[in-house]
Amino acid sequence: MTTETSTGLIGLGTMGAALALNIAEKGFPIAVWNRTPAVTRRFHEDAGGLTDRVIPTESLESLVAALAPPRTIILMVPAGQAVDDQIAALAPLLGPDDLVIDAGNANFHDTNRRAAAGLPMRFLGMGVSGGEEGARHGPAIMGGGDRADWDRVAPIMEAIAARAEDGTPCATWMGEAGAGHFVKTVHNGIEYADMQMIAEIYGLMRDGLAMHATRIGDVFAGWNEGALKSYLVEISAAVAHARDPLTGDGMLDVILDAAGQKGTGRWTAIEAQHLASPIPVIEAAVMARNVSARLDERRAGQARFGAAPQEVTLEPAELEAALIAGKILCYAQGFAMIDAAGRAFGWRLDLPGIARVWRAGCIIRSAMLNDMAAALADDPSRNLVLASFFADRLEATVPALRRVVSQGVLHGHGLPALASGLAWFDMMRTGRGTANMIQAQRDFFGAHGFDRMDGRDSHHGPWGKAG
Ligand code: 6PG
Repeated sequence: MTTETSTGLIGLGTMGAALALNIAEKGFPIAVWNRTPAVTRRFHEDAGGLTDRVIPTESLESLVAALAPPRTIILMVPAGQAVDDQIAALAPLLGPDDLVIDAGNANFHDTNRRAAAGLPMRFLGMGVSGGEEGARHGPAIMGGGDRADWDRVAPIMEAIAARAEDGTPCATWMGEAGAGHFVKTVHNGIEYADMQMIAEIYGLMRDGLAMHATRIGDVFAGWNEGALKSYLVEISAAVAHARDPLTGDGMLDVILDAAGQKGTGRWTAIEAQHLASPIPVIEAAVMARNVSARLDERRAGQARFGAAPQEVTLEPAELEAALIAGKILCYAQGFAMIDAAGRAFGWRLDLPGIARVWRAGCIIRSAMLNDMAAALADDPSRNLVLASFFADRLEATVPALRRVVSQGVLHGHGLPALASGLAWFDMMRTGRGTANMIQAQRDFFGAHGFDRMDGRDSHHGPWGKAG
């Protein structure tokens, strides 16, 4: 084997294998290693026309030896301890100019910790979105770490990334340390929310309008031609149309309604709480997954109280408008959280740049992200709901969201994501809210003080002594 390369990859699971083939296909030879040698051998044998660009290695030492310094080694191993273990195993083998890239779904706090740990090699944390298909043919890539390290690998990352319609590669450096993994985490939070809102709308069609899955699939497919054009709406149409080869029933009708999760949505919700940045749609989506997993409890609830969802009076067009409104509200919250994190963590997170990276390759890719990128470029610090394009859209669609949520509430459909988006919006547009009551209560029981509307220098109520 005479192929020269300085790029290697560890971990030939689904994502690692797909990413390695993508890299090879774009003209970069790659040395690979997997803990199980048979997996490496099979991967090499199955690489087809790319076999010559793949260098299989059977030990960590031979992987490192196969790479010309300065080396770049991409880790595609499970997040958490496995990454620390792999870094520790590589440490004695690598030099200070060699670069390790953690391309898994790491918790960005771990990436911050690793970046600050003074590792004996260079280190980048990189979020990769798009599932197996994306990794193989063009993911969205969110890099974090030292800019110079990113610049070193940018030619590879840009070559393997998806391209937006204008040809821009969806691979960008987000900021130092864990910035890339942070942006990927929020991406996943939004992914949870998008999925949950689609599921809520699906539920209204299935249980409230007694629509058959095929018809629901047709509706989603129609929406995918308009403002909601997106990967998740597209695949929702596909799954609603699919039939179970075992029973001939619709696939959706045979799948258990208990959602799994690996934790990135939860991390987003936890971080938002730390940042005091409201992301109720994402939090509702995480909550809904948790409730969905409590099958026995839900069945006991149905036995005791009767099934909740009843017939609703809604048009599909109203559902479409409600989903558009919910999506805008959710993304407005997500981008505001990213903005807050940038300030809290000292990252100069480029909001329009993030919207641009999400336009292709990733799971939340959608037509609307083009408009979001433009609105954020206009004024990144203004909440997206106040950008004129989206304010106009909300004015046109919130009435439908309100009708959808109220029909859901009246007729027993749990719509936590859509409803919490609407509640947040109504609070956001209320200049005089009700927290004066909270402040009065806090002062009453704890003498915490309050500010007055008239600005006078009197910060406690008369209640303490009056009893
Ligand atoms: C992506 C996805 C991916 C995620 C899966 C499953 O951007 O490609 O977000 O990273 O791991 O979608 O996530 P859950 O198991 O948490 O649903």
